[in-house]
Amino acid sequence: MNRMVRAFATAGLVSGALFFVGMQVQAEPTRATMPDIAKLVHYTTVERGEVTEHIMTTRAAIEAVKRGEPIPNGTHVALVDYRDGKVFRYFIMEKGERWGQDYGEDRRTADWQFQWFKPDGTINMDENTARCQRCHTSRADREFLYTFNDMRRFEFE
Ligand code: HEC
Repeated sequence: MNRMVRAFATAGLVSGALFFVGMQVQAEPTRATMPDIAKLVHYTTVERGEVTEHIMTTRAAIEAVKRGEPIPNGTHVALVDYRDGKVFRYFIMEKGERWGQDYGEDRRTADWQFQWFKPDGTINMDENTARCQRCHTSRADREFLYTFNDMRRFEFE
């Protein structure tokens, strides 16, 4: 390859990569589904100014964390974001067998996948859940959860 051809080939690769990154900004359906919120256990609340977050998961997940065991596949963790007393959005994490294989290592959060649902249960098409994963990666040693210790300390009634 002469130098000119190589330069063009490189430019092509770079623009291809940019195109790919551009596409990634679109929302993607993930495997994470909207849970039945009423069936989950509300284990902690986080207040942030106008925002009240009810954080919930299954009883089995809380029991696993208390025993020091991995959270079982099929678990949902929900953050219900309330503003002015109404649900503003649902942030959902769900874990499934080998779900991590859907992503490269740069993005993978073990077998957890993420989604942002609107109050009507549809997904937010403006969000890219890679952003969720990037932030939650800092909790890799605690099941990718920020409120892992609240789960561990939660006392059932
Ligand atoms: C900039 C960092 C950041 C980003 C981006 C982020 N989160 Fe979180 N997430 C947090 C923090 C911090 C908490 C703990 C609650 C709090 O402090 O508000 C949390 C809590 C949660 C929880 C409750 C379980 C837990 O980890 O404690 C869920 C579920 C969740 N986030 C889902 C999502 C989803 C879905 C997205 C993307 C749409 C997302 N998060 C993006 C930082 C982030």
